[in-house]
Amino acid sequence: MIGPSVTRGPAAALAPQLAQAAERLRAAGVASPRADAEQLAAFALGISRSRLVGVDELPAQAAAHLDELVGRRARREPLQHLTGLAGFRYLDLAVGPGVFIPRPETESVVGWAIAALTSPPALTSPSVPSLEPRGPVCVDLCAGSGAITLSLAGEVPGARVHAVEVDPAALDWLRRNVAASRLPVTVHEADVTAAPTASLARLTGSVDLIVSNPPYLPDADRDEVEPEVGEHDPPQALWGGADGLDVVRAVVALAARLLRPGGLLVVEHADGHGAAAPGLLRADGRWVDVADHPDLAGRDRFVSGRRQAGGGERATAEEG
Ligand SMILES: C[S@@+](CC[C@H](N)C(=O)[O-])C[C@H]1O[C@@H](n2cnc3c(N)ncnc32)[C@H](O)[C@@H]1O
Repeated sequence: MIGPSVTRGPAAALAPQLAQAAERLRAAGVASPRADAEQLAAFALGISRSRLVGVDELPAQAAAHLDELVGRRARREPLQHLTGLAGFRYLDLAVGPGVFIPRPETESVVGWAIAALTSPPALTSPSVPSLEPRGPVCVDLCAGSGAITLSLAGEVPGARVHAVEVDPAALDWLRRNVAASRLPVTVHEADVTAAPTASLARLTGSVDLIVSNPPYLPDADRDEVEPEVGEHDPPQALWGGADGLDVVRAVVALAARLLRPGGLLVVEHADGHGAAAPGLLRADGRWVDVADHPDLAGRDRFVSGRRQAGGGERATAEEG
């Protein structure tokens, strides 16, 4: 008797290798073993993950490459370091050793900031002037690979974006991503905890939006982070002092100086800072409409506030 014909789907050709790779990654404690195995197989084959379904064989060279990649991932090298790319909103950013890998939670921080910038000011905020027709001036403090910078530059019509970063290795990645994007971005090599450089000082009182994802983990968490983070993200991108808020405080002070009256500040923070971060802005006295916001997982994730129109000059002058 002739049984029903079984069509061997193209994806079945890779099934054993993918299952084996996923098992190695699972055993090594990788959080998303199957997804990572598929990403690495696609990378080894030089195709996108969605095209794996059309593959009917794994050539020996690609199989050897996949084996090497899975071994490195099992030793907890970040997936993005192996592929050299990190997806962020509409971007594929070049990343590798020396730069922080952009995180999904920051995508919603940027999305919220863009929506707030491009929607009409709320009636409860009469102090907020409308955007000038030439487009807003935006600043990304602690820019890393340029994830926030390039999202703003690509998604906000007419935006003129300034990226501020202090770490030379991160600056190399930032400049590379900015150059590849051909978007209008000015890169500033500057320390947000120090007095503004001459080029940054020129923006005083003129900025419409500042977004920042600074280092914000409390130093005490050093033993708790995953190997991908603790051994591969640059320490300067992670650690924010005893309470995690050292750089956040500097960002708030610099933002108060750079923003125009009514300008908007949006700062990502640790999930334990849902009260402390807005508390910093309220205690500072130069902010209105201060609010904290959750990420998609419902964890406290970022604070927003508008630079007070009028008032606050005393505090600005005190900063020099
Ligand atoms: C958490 S990472 C965020 C990078 C990027 N904005 C993102 O969301 O993917 C923080 C970045 O701040 C930079 N940074 C740390 N301290 C800084 C400082 N004092 N001044 C400027 N940049 C700083 C680090 O080098 C790192 O690139």
